[in-house]
Amino acid sequence: MDLGLRGRKAIVCAASKGLGRACAEALAAEGVDLVLNARTATPLQQAAAEIAAAHGVRAVAVAGDIGDAAVRDALIAACPAPDILVNNAGGPSPGRLKSFTADDWTRALDGNLRAPAAMLAAVLEGMAARGFGRVVNITSSVVRHPIDVQGLSAAARAGLHGLVSTLVREHVGRNVTINNILPGPFATDRLISNFTFQAKQKGISPEEALAARKAELPAKRFGDPSEVGRLCAYLCSAHAGYISGQSILIDGGAHPQIL
Ligand SMILES: NC(=O)c1ccc[n+]([C@@H]2O[C@H](COP(=O)([O-])OP(=O)(O)OC[C@H]3O[C@@H](n4cnc5c(N)ncnc54)[C@H](OP(=O)(O)O)[C@@H]3O)[C@@H](O)[C@H]2O)c1
Repeated sequence: MDLGLRGRKAIVCAASKGLGRACAEALAAEGVDLVLNARTATPLQQAAAEIAAAHGVRAVAVAGDIGDAAVRDALIAACPAPDILVNNAGGPSPGRLKSFTADDWTRALDGNLRAPAAMLAAVLEGMAARGFGRVVNITSSVVRHPIDVQGLSAAARAGLHGLVSTLVREHVGRNVTINNILPGPFATDRLISNFTFQAKQKGISPEEALAARKAELPAKRFGDPSEVGRLCAYLCSAHAGYISGQSILIDGGAHPQIL
């Protein structure tokens, strides 16, 4: 299916690897020019160069922490009229309520709530005026199915979901949609670092923790980041203008629902 995106422009946050990069790759494969962000300049520039070469699109790198207002301004300056925004950031550290420091809270809220909120505020009006806009927020399945050590993640992301729910009706009439993708366990560096934390708590090796988790998943595997990327590309497509305000779980059937 041609997603009708050739020549569109996207900002993809937190995109040098993992799920953000997979979204960037899937959009580039549809002919979308990209402005990519991540904190560390060298791997980001490398990712941009690889994506541009593989798909024949423009890919510009803007390095810096998405929680930083100056970095968000630089992203908008590099792409003043985006058609697509993919909000993403590193996930908050796992832990228990009493272990969360004031800095942990600030980082989680800055990266996973304030940053996507600020990016939404920066792009929505322009998208509406131009008559096309697609925003996809990469959040987490923890919003729907809590994981006890992911309190910071659940708290910050639930806030974003709440905010999004208040924005949808104002914008969908001008062909601007906002949706959330809720990944379950996907094979990325983030997953491995989470399992390192859990393995330490259980007194087993990270490899043992990963193998045990995989065995208990109904799909018997972790998700491939490209599966999130292609879902994201579809939600950004010309065909998805009637889907907005949805939170789409992609977790290999780990949490089946009747409704
Ligand atoms: N993988 C999973 O199973 C899974 C499941 C549910 C939810 N998620 C969530 O999905 C998001 C992406 O996870 P992932 O698995 O793709 O992680 P990942 O493989 O570790 O990749 C994270 C990417 O984000 C960038 N990044 C991290 N913090 C950033 C920041 N503050 N500002 C700008 N860029 C930043 C990283 O580059 P730099 O380090 O250079 O900045 C990297 O490009 C996270 O919020 C994670 O919690 C992941």
